[in-house]
Amino acid sequence: MDHQAKPEVRVLDAADSALPLLLDEVRSVLQARTEGGDGTAGNRPLISLATGGTFTAFFRALDAEVQQGRIAASDFVGTHLDEYMGFEPERPGGMVHELLLRCPALRGMLARGSFFRVPCHGAEGSLRAHEERLARAGGIQLQFLGIGRNAHVAFNEPGASFDNGFHVTTLAESTRADAKARFVPDQPPRRAVTAGLKSILGAERIVLCAFGSGKAEAVRAMLQGEVGSHCPASVLRKHKNVLVLLDPAAASSLDLDAIAGANC
Ligand code: PGA
Repeated sequence: MDHQAKPEVRVLDAADSALPLLLDEVRSVLQARTEGGDGTAGNRPLISLATGGTFTAFFRALDAEVQQGRIAASDFVGTHLDEYMGFEPERPGGMVHELLLRCPALRGMLARGSFFRVPCHGAEGSLRAHEERLARAGGIQLQFLGIGRNAHVAFNEPGASFDNGFHVTTLAESTRADAKARFVPDQPPRRAVTAGLKSILGAERIVLCAFGSGKAEAVRAMLQGEVGSHCPASVLRKHKNVLVLLDPAAASSLDLDAIAGANC
């Protein structure tokens, strides 16, 4: 991998302008399969979703596309990045619970075994089996990604190794504070199961979204700070096929002139 790879950065007029672009990303992996595949189930592309407020509108839009028959849930296999420790799908606050709530079309995929849940109890064997299942499905073709205020991606907090696969991790206090509303009246969990940075880099294409001024410093550090484990999201500069979609507030700390190919 190229240490100087440059993510493509697009600064949109508003967060909602990302919706058609994100749906197009889904369509283009489905289209590539139609053109190149032999039509067997094994060739269905694997798309990995990111949870969190950033993607709420996208889940609704994706659900509408599926309900209205413009995207077929049977044309792809799904998975996601992370889960709070011990959170089964029916437990509010959990990532799969959120996904199913915002995008009910995924329920059928889960029931049919074409949505691969992150093993929420974190047993080592289950994590390796999950990785093998993703690999057998052909690996992740399209990875959606958010970013935390502290520049985490998935639950890889500052200091996380770039070489980890799926693993159990302890959440940063700022991450727990940001997740508070999901768990009221309870406290956010302290531990989670997450795709590692190595797992994320294994995706063929990565599309990261960041919206709002709260993400501006993390976005600057990701794109224009030093690459290193103090800034987990900076690992994306080691990947050759990354698209970063920002609203103006999230882009406000960037030196846009210095970003070759920035489309403002
Ligand atoms: P958010 O979370 O979309 O809720 O801001 C993103 C993240 O923490 O990765």
